Amino acid sequence: VRGNNRLKLGLFGLNCSSGNIMTTVPERWSGSWEDSLNVSQAADAAGIEFVLPIARWKGFGGETDYQGTALETITWATGILARTRNIMAFGTVHVPLFHPVIAAKQMVTAHHVGEGRFGLNIVCGWNEGEFDMLGIEQRDHESRYRYAQEWLDVVRALWSNPDEFDFAGDFFQLRNVKALPKPFGGRQPIVMNAGFSPTGQDFAIRNCDALFTFANTAGHIAQAKAKAGRHGRTVDVYTIGKTVCRPSAAEAREYHDYAVVERADWPGIDNLLAVRGITPETLGAAEFEEFRMQTASARGSLALVGDPDTVAAELARLCEMGLAGVALIMVDYAAELPFFCDEVLPRLERMNLRAGPANAANR
Ligand SMILES: Cc1cc2nc3c(=O)[nH]c(=O)nc-3n(C[C@H](O)[C@H](O)[C@H](O)COP(=O)(O)O)c2cc1C
Repeated sequence: VRGNNRLKLGLFGLNCSSGNIMTTVPERWSGSWEDSLNVSQAADAAGIEFVLPIARWKGFGGETDYQGTALETITWATGILARTRNIMAFGTVHVPLFHPVIAAKQMVTAHHVGEGRFGLNIVCGWNEGEFDMLGIEQRDHESRYRYAQEWLDVVRALWSNPDEFDFAGDFFQLRNVKALPKPFGGRQPIVMNAGFSPTGQDFAIRNCDALFTFANTAGHIAQAKAKAGRHGRTVDVYTIGKTVCRPSAAEAREYHDYAVVERADWPGIDNLLAVRGITPETLGAAEFEEFRMQTASARGSLALVGDPDTVAAELARLCEMGLAGVALIMVDYAAELPFFCDEVLPRLERMNLRAGPANAANR
């Protein structure tokens, strides 16, 4: 991600209804274009570095049809980039669903609109229902990443090769390939991936500028960076953090427990878990209940719940551990982001983890 701040910040999931929190509270995120744009512009003005959308083709049913309303991410990012100044916007691309020649051009278009601020989040897909809807069969896990490797090789060749070329791979046989224009300013878009399995992480380490992970331990982060080093590369490690920041710790905890646990979309959570093969039948009742609770309260993301001092201190701790940044998740970004920007960002500036938004133009 562009910029010099030691700790970079982004917003995750603005393009989807409910964002990334499975709650039934009426103020849950709309995912509308208007709300996406307003919040992205506010984030841009505050010096936040990036917005990262979620590629979702079908909701999860339940009480709220979690993520059932979702704007397509490359077109969404292009719109955001046209109407902001400094913030980066990612497009999240399911490689099995987009032909690389078409996707490379869509992304170059976004990159030109944003004068170099577009980034690619490359995902292989995991949600069976989405693939059924498209009539496409998912490959087994290892082949998914072999396919992703070839797909990205094609895209990078399209972005960089000035001449016409042929591509002969296991999955793509392409002849007389040509693509103009090249990415804006002669620099390729930043590429990120959120591989979690060993194969997924290896893919990210070999190919990507940024790895998003759920495993937020210093050891894990150092290991990923060391692995990248062995490939002669550097990789920045990021994570996602569910944020409830309020004037007092008690208020934050109370709202978190209300919105995220008490008013969780339990039928939606059960549907999401079932896609991953997690049911009371496969797991046993007790373990399933534990999984359900974990899914409601964090779903692998970190919890940044507390008053501004606590949230800033926790972000500082993550930075100390070697993380390059965090993509924030909120119940209602429009209502909650201003308080975060007014209270947490100045604290991070005082800790020398970030410069003020006035310096955003230097990025
Ligand atoms: C920050 C982040 C963004 C993600 N975005 C998407 C997405 O937009 N669409 C999707 O289907 N999966 C998305 N995922 C899920 C990952 O692609 C999924 O966890 C990954 O497939 C797991 O890695 P594995 O294949 O190595 O097991 C995201 C995960 C993270 C952490």
